[in-house]
Amino acid sequence: MGVSCHATDCMANYFFNKIVVNGGMFCEAQHCFWKVSIMNVISLLAGVVLKLSYHFVQKSLIRLSVLGIFGSVLLTASSLAAQTAPARMHFDVDAKVFRLDGGDVTYVLGVNGEGQVQTLYWGKHLPEAEHFDAARPSQGNASFDPPVTTTPHEYVGWGGALYVQPDLKITFPDGNRDLVLKYVSNKVGDGELAIMMKDISREVYVTLQYQMDPETGILRRSAEVENRTGAPFTIEQVASGTWNLPRGTDYRLHYVTGRWAGEWHLQEQPVHGGMTVLESRRGTTGSQNNPWFMIDHAITKDQDEGSVWFGALGWSGSWQIAVEQDALQQVRVTGGPNAFDFSYLVKKGDRFQTPYFYGGYSSHGVGDASRLLHRFEVDSLLPHAPTPKLRPVLYNSWEATEFRVDEPGQVALAEKAATLGVERFVMDDGWFGQRKDDHAGLGDWYVNPQKFPNGLKPLINKVHSLGMEFGLWVEPEMVNPDSDLYRKHPDWVLNFSGRPQTEGRNQLVLNLARPDVHAYVLQWLDKLLTENDISFIKWDYNRNWAEPGWPAVPVGEQKNVYVDFTRNFYDILEQMRKKHPNTEFESCSGGGSRVDLGVMHLTDEVWPSDNTDAYDRQFIQEGFTYAYTPGVMMAWVTDSPNWVNHRTLSLDYRFLSAMQGSLGIGANLNNWKPEDFATAKQMVATYKGIRETVQRGSLYRLMSPREGEATVTESVSRDGKQAVTFAFLHSSTQNYPFPRIYLRGLDENAVYDLKAISGKLSPGTPAFASGAYLMNFGVDVDLRGDFQAMAFTLSRR
Ligand code: GLA
Repeated sequence: MGVSCHATDCMANYFFNKIVVNGGMFCEAQHCFWKVSIMNVISLLAGVVLKLSYHFVQKSLIRLSVLGIFGSVLLTASSLAAQTAPARMHFDVDAKVFRLDGGDVTYVLGVNGEGQVQTLYWGKHLPEAEHFDAARPSQGNASFDPPVTTTPHEYVGWGGALYVQPDLKITFPDGNRDLVLKYVSNKVGDGELAIMMKDISREVYVTLQYQMDPETGILRRSAEVENRTGAPFTIEQVASGTWNLPRGTDYRLHYVTGRWAGEWHLQEQPVHGGMTVLESRRGTTGSQNNPWFMIDHAITKDQDEGSVWFGALGWSGSWQIAVEQDALQQVRVTGGPNAFDFSYLVKKGDRFQTPYFYGGYSSHGVGDASRLLHRFEVDSLLPHAPTPKLRPVLYNSWEATEFRVDEPGQVALAEKAATLGVERFVMDDGWFGQRKDDHAGLGDWYVNPQKFPNGLKPLINKVHSLGMEFGLWVEPEMVNPDSDLYRKHPDWVLNFSGRPQTEGRNQLVLNLARPDVHAYVLQWLDKLLTENDISFIKWDYNRNWAEPGWPAVPVGEQKNVYVDFTRNFYDILEQMRKKHPNTEFESCSGGGSRVDLGVMHLTDEVWPSDNTDAYDRQFIQEGFTYAYTPGVMMAWVTDSPNWVNHRTLSLDYRFLSAMQGSLGIGANLNNWKPEDFATAKQMVATYKGIRETVQRGSLYRLMSPREGEATVTESVSRDGKQAVTFAFLHSSTQNYPFPRIYLRGLDENAVYDLKAISGKLSPGTPAFASGAYLMNFGVDVDLRGDFQAMAFTLSRR
């Protein structure tokens, strides 16, 4: 890849590489000026409108027109899916200012006189005619915070006098660790802005990549580090990029904390001077933090008001998001693989591609920020975006039978599940190897002959004959020491030679970074899916890393495990999806420990928590939906009293709680009474009538379980024809009525029919009302007592 090109090359490149072929050469700014001028003439004479395929949003078009004014290039991408809010890229050659517009967002960056690339603006959409001056480096603050430390870099190497979080830190073979990146060239095309930087003396190139979603304005960023030095070097720290917020002193950070059975606790705290690090050092995503953040102004109270900047990493390995307020009270957010215990050897000629870091902005509060994320996930990120399948209602055997699965037992459950309208029957843990409990069997992926003497086929056929799809649980990255696999390949686990190996749930982690382990998992999973008609795989992962050594490779490459493990995990999912396109996947990790935008790109749904207590779920589901769409959020109705809290809840309450996401049933149906079957059957039917609204619609969080005795959510369908409201009362006190519900997101002038789908509206509630009435006068529901729930729909006339 050249760093410069002649004008004629540029033009040819423009037509043949950038347009026809994905890729092409980088042009230095002055060459691009010529390119642009020549292009202008051609464009004006011929009046050409070029239509390009746009990769970020499939099935979109880019209309490329070239403007003569100031030698600037304007690229317009308009989605075919929805013809609104085209993403546009604009490059002011003279000022070296790049501007991206999408949704209601404008993002502007520029190259300053020092050759540093810095953020100029990230926020609400600005008029197209707005002019941005060339970027200027910061003044710094005395000798302690020199300009390089306070300039809002898009991407900065650790070198010179940099004291804030670097995006890239490299150790060269001679011990040199100074890295100073300067702008070299840019490429604008194919819906992507690429900016190439290079170290001031060494042949280290870093390409910053930007793609903006035209619908939501969510920007996808990553960086590619290229080693042209002629010798290997070691990356000690690498980020996907840094987000710089506008100058402000009242910022508040939203994030989640959690643990097993208690994931997705929302936290908020002021952004102070210094650094707050959200992270996982555990090898995978983890639930202690999730790789997602939102930052708003602390004064904002309403869910749907105020400016919010948010971001999420697409990475399922150890990760880090550092939120830092510098000496000038500027806030920067840097994210990527975790720098702790990290290194990656980049051999000469090789490139290192970072994960994606997605970022967005809303001027309508954290509520709208979540809705933008949901929409982006459904329309652009999930495996079948923009039309992922609605989640089928599933039954899962885990809480009913745990490891005690066998053919007659599963058939009995399947027969009962089918009568409820369940669409997919999933057999959980216990079907393979010598698996009687969690002490043995992981790694031996053959069907247990005592439990299933004729293999899985008779059960699968039975499930199909009952009109359901069949799904199966696996945990491919794990091994029990009590397994044939471990006895044969004790060296396949993560380990430091001669050191203890810490077990978790009696299992060790296979080193998926190893080519032989990667090949083994590919082979047995492919065989399983080839030999059996399996529509769904629940891919579990039930512990974190310990002693993460990889003694089989040279010392300098052993820490590559942090990246190669995750890449191989993705690769297996990718290959399986390609070979078995009718099989869907769920990401589960002892609950919600592997939920992120990286795994969501390759899986159809995720399991938020092993905690299935329907009241606890109100908190879990609220936290989850700050970042992730209810369309992938699995929620089961399980037995009562629940095993987590021994809390007793009515079947209606349990159903309504699970119906806020993707409905599943995980109860022991053998213990159900006829009236339970009747309730469940009716609830499943009701759910099917609202699931598109719940899974695809716009979610409004009207009352938070964290703030009082009520939880209320409302989902409005994309076409605006249906809204579904769920209301939960935790506990009545002192004869107070349930708080009035003021709906949101309706059409003021439309008329809606109200209907309770479970429980009761208050006496006197009108049978129909205008959107204006419902949003301003509101709706009262009849809930009293402890742990009561109801739901109602609005249907637009
Ligand atoms: C994890 C999952 C559960 C279940 C068990 C099986 O804990 O989160 O849903 O699959 O493993 O062992």
